[in-house]
Amino acid sequence: MSVVTLIPGDGIGPEITQSIKDIFAAAGADVQWDEQLAGQVALDKYGELIPQTLVESLKQHKVGLKGPISTPIGKGFKSINVSLRQMFNLYANIRPGKSIKGVETPFTDVDVVIFRENTEGLYSGLEIWDEKNQIADALNRISYKGSERLLRAAFEYARKHGRKKVTIVHKANILKLSSGLFLKVGLEVAKEYPDIECEERIVDNMCMQLVRNPGMYDILASTNLFGDILSDLVAGLVGGLGVTPGANIGDDLAIFEAVHGSAPDIAGQNKANPTAMLKSALMMLHHLGQGNVADRIEKALHDTLAIKEECTGDMGGRCSTTTFTQNVINKL
Ligand code: NAI
Repeated sequence: MSVVTLIPGDGIGPEITQSIKDIFAAAGADVQWDEQLAGQVALDKYGELIPQTLVESLKQHKVGLKGPISTPIGKGFKSINVSLRQMFNLYANIRPGKSIKGVETPFTDVDVVIFRENTEGLYSGLEIWDEKNQIADALNRISYKGSERLLRAAFEYARKHGRKKVTIVHKANILKLSSGLFLKVGLEVAKEYPDIECEERIVDNMCMQLVRNPGMYDILASTNLFGDILSDLVAGLVGGLGVTPGANIGDDLAIFEAVHGSAPDIAGQNKANPTAMLKSALMMLHHLGQGNVADRIEKALHDTLAIKEECTGDMGGRCSTTTFTQNVINKL
């Protein structure tokens, strides 16, 4: 039995994590949940955004499944998501974007895995005002070590999963030191993997290439902010944020979560699509060595997604979160 720290999160988080619990129970996944709060809900209940009990639970179980957590825009507390990634050194954010049979999109051949550096770069939120609050600076710290471990993880993944190519995405023509360092490290690491093709792309060109010819790309490795933006772009190519999973991986701890946020516009309405969360949970099952159950659930999920009427509104269907969940369970 694997024990997993479950963070339901807020917004649509509790609804979609309930869906995962129901599907796992029906499929007989060998997982026990240790449920923990984080973010505003934890602050309201325990007076802490990241309670010590959550930290201890993650340290003990080493695997977490996390629902989305809201971050106030332009004010308030630092993102809990970013804090957890930095606190546990979850340096590789892995976000697969793969076409799903039956899900209508302009392309049918997308199979891209994004490796996004998860602990540094412009996304770290290291910002300062000048003394008159008229100029704001943000620090784009890129380190050799931080870049190397992410890029190595991307090449190792390519080798392990029989993938052919890693594309290093950067802006080294302008950010010659920071993005330049990431590119330099990537080209160095690539030399150790002569069996994997390596190429580089400037990030703006990469976006254009992806919307025209996504089938040309395999694994993309990039810094934190570029990786974040690229992964929403790729999500859009395969059916949207409702279907795109993610994993935050460190050397000895992993937290799995969907790419999307807490979707406050549909929270509490039983409308959210739990697919992205479920796919993240399936990545977790593979990580836990329960690949057989994961494959069985994935088949039921894809069989459901192939029937539009059985899907949630964002996929063109009319089902609620709970009905969609039951549709998947019926196909197990
Ligand atoms: P969002 O991903 O929450 O929503 C963007 C759009 O996609 C909305 O129209 C929403 O209804 C839709 N959407 C997202 N997930 C969906 C799902 N599962 N099913 C159906 N529709 C879905 O992004 P937004 O609005 O930029 O952020 C809202 C909050 O979420 C913010 O506080 C943000 O900081 C937080 N956030 C948290 C993340 C995390 O916990 N990992 C990641 C991204 C954002």
